[in-house]
Amino acid sequence: MASGKATPFELRTFPDGEAVARAAADEFARVAAAAVAERGRAAIALAGGSTPRRLYQILAERGAEAPRAKVPWDALHLFWGDERHVSPEHADSNYRMTREALLDAGLVPAANVHRIRAELADAAEAARLYEEELRAFFRLRASEWPRFDLMLLGMGADGHTASLFPGTDAVGEVRRLAASPWVEKFKTYRITLSPPVFNHAAEVLFLVTGADKAATLREVLEGEPDPARLPSQLIRPADGRCLWFADRAAAARLRGAG
Ligand code: 6PG
Repeated sequence: MASGKATPFELRTFPDGEAVARAAADEFARVAAAAVAERGRAAIALAGGSTPRRLYQILAERGAEAPRAKVPWDALHLFWGDERHVSPEHADSNYRMTREALLDAGLVPAANVHRIRAELADAAEAARLYEEELRAFFRLRASEWPRFDLMLLGMGADGHTASLFPGTDAVGEVRRLAASPWVEKFKTYRITLSPPVFNHAAEVLFLVTGADKAATLREVLEGEPDPARLPSQLIRPADGRCLWFADRAAAARLRGAG
């Protein structure tokens, strides 16, 4: 357990990426089961990128003791924190990565998979439709925010999370649920949930692995607040938990790291 100056968080470190993924799968199963027991359903936003792939594969694995056996799959609703502006068949698609690692196992009812329509030519339209879907699913009134049971996130070495990249308007979005920033470094649009959506979650769980993230992880968790440069610092649920699962390599530069 640790706490930074401005961002209360719980940090857990693990020997390697495999251990991070296994712990995250256990946490996923625990939160899903608790939410379904309490409210009859669990709303979970998935992360993209490469780090969570192993977590999704582990969730699909069979076994009496496997996390899969503890997840109430029929009552699970899956969303994404962000998506690349490509079709669902594209190699860069976060949806495709999740489909191959988890959804193809056939555990989640198709009607419960709420993907971002990133194949639309207009990314702003994709963001607008996604916002509409969220408003309908969570039955939100005009000024209300959704409350996800769990939101998975990753962090880039530049400090971005979801598709909240430094220098983009999405970082300052406080009104809309979803935005479609132009990301100059990749010369593409992305579709992303806005910071207040993450900050209204019951729990956010960051997965961070690899030595290339170590310096940034230290800055994000222990450095001075500078969220315009390090958007990951924006994520701190007001009434929820903020968990960071890191492997030893990513955590190597944190205070107290051995
Ligand atoms: C995406 C993401 C993004 C990701 C980080 C870390 O669509 O790329 O959701 O925010 O989590 O870039 O990515 P890696 O896990 O690949 O390092």
